[in-house]
Amino acid sequence: MDNFIYYTPTKVYFGKGEENNVGKYIKDYHPHKVLIHYGGGSVVRSGLLDRVKKALDDEGISWVEFGGAKPNPELDLVKKGIEFSLKEGVDFVLAVGGGSVLDSSKDIAHGIANNEIDTWGYHTGEKKLTKSLRKGCILTLAAAGSEMSNSSVITNTELKIKKGFNSDFNRFDFAICNPELTYTVSKYQTACGAVDIAMHTIERFFALGNDTELTDDIALAVIKNAFKYGKLAYDHPDDYNARANMMWASSLAHNGLTGCGRSFLLTVHQLEHEVSALYPEVAHGAGLAALWCSWARYVYKANVERWYQFVSSIWGVEDIDKEKAILKGIGLQEEYYRSIGMPIGLKELGIKEKDLEYLANRTSHSKSRIIPGYKPLEYQDILNIFNLAYNRD
Ligand code: NZQ
Ligand code: ZN
Repeated sequence: MDNFIYYTPTKVYFGKGEENNVGKYIKDYHPHKVLIHYGGGSVVRSGLLDRVKKALDDEGISWVEFGGAKPNPELDLVKKGIEFSLKEGVDFVLAVGGGSVLDSSKDIAHGIANNEIDTWGYHTGEKKLTKSLRKGCILTLAAAGSEMSNSSVITNTELKIKKGFNSDFNRFDFAICNPELTYTVSKYQTACGAVDIAMHTIERFFALGNDTELTDDIALAVIKNAFKYGKLAYDHPDDYNARANMMWASSLAHNGLTGCGRSFLLTVHQLEHEVSALYPEVAHGAGLAALWCSWARYVYKANVERWYQFVSSIWGVEDIDKEKAILKGIGLQEEYYRSIGMPIGLKELGIKEKDLEYLANRTSHSKSRIIPGYKPLEYQDILNIFNLAYNRD
């Protein structure tokens, strides 16, 4: 087991009605003015935004609102949010929405604290983030895990680049997670969520490392639950138990717990982020589903024992011929994706063949990097995977 630091400072308020206590919870941070940040209107339609405003009013907390974060959130809106917040004297940020809203709010909090409009330098690594504002979130979609993660993923539409960066300043002070708020999530987004949640931990499971039995057991349990309750929530949107297990899996899958003692690199995420940067209409979870099985078939031979452990635990396949079992398990994962309306190839997402080389070039940083892993991936490998995923239907 490798050395590791495990740090999850986010206080989670989980369960029914917790969003109505947001005023009391925020009061602990003594804010002068709160920015309520949200997305394209789902929280307006559901009435959640009004309830949040009332909860702040009841505690005498002043607030301003700023909506408009899009799925695959954009830098331009972040800049507008920072400009507005600086003018308003905001000193606490409250995100109300899904992963896109949460990430957008993280960058807005960084910009306010550092009195700068442009946060892109933190994503490219040109600038180092040394402070941020206090922030909380009310989660409305179980998927990205941003509520407890140390990442923020933003798209620079001018450069057509989507880029995340990791920092403890990306951690929320608190996250309010009421599964009932996710009843209105569409079947498609629910399915995307199930894929993404499981993938955050599957990727950690296949990151380099040894002798992490406890971490592996936790990881496999989180993956099983994400798949099981993801499908249940897909079939029964109002099933509290399904939504609750899915929501808790979302937080645990990506807060660091399921990768302790192993290296950390989300390989398929690296490929997917290039796809949704070029095609912003592609939902992150759908992009992952469209790529994963092709990646899996391409790399599994590099560590047959680990792959066998995965497919026997997650898909219950066993065979003396381990490679046969692995291929069967990957096929079952594909069937699972199909059963929740997810794509298993890139064509289904409208990706054009002419863009595959561009995508491989971007993922490999213009052929200058090799993505480490049991099977390291250089430009040609990445292109092969994109081609496999393109030809899969
Ligand atoms: O914008 P609104 O109107 O709120 O609608 C959203 C959006 O259209 C809707 N939605 C959210 N909650 C709802 C709801 N609709 C009905 N009822 C509700 N309760 O769902 C749509 C998708 O929302 P979005 O926030 O984009 O989805 P998700 O949570 O999957 O977030 C995706 C983003 O997170 C990034 C992805 O790359 C992508 O940009 N990620 C962030 C990570 C992190 N910060 O740690 C890790 C992930 O790997 C991921 O990369
Ligand atoms: Zn993800």
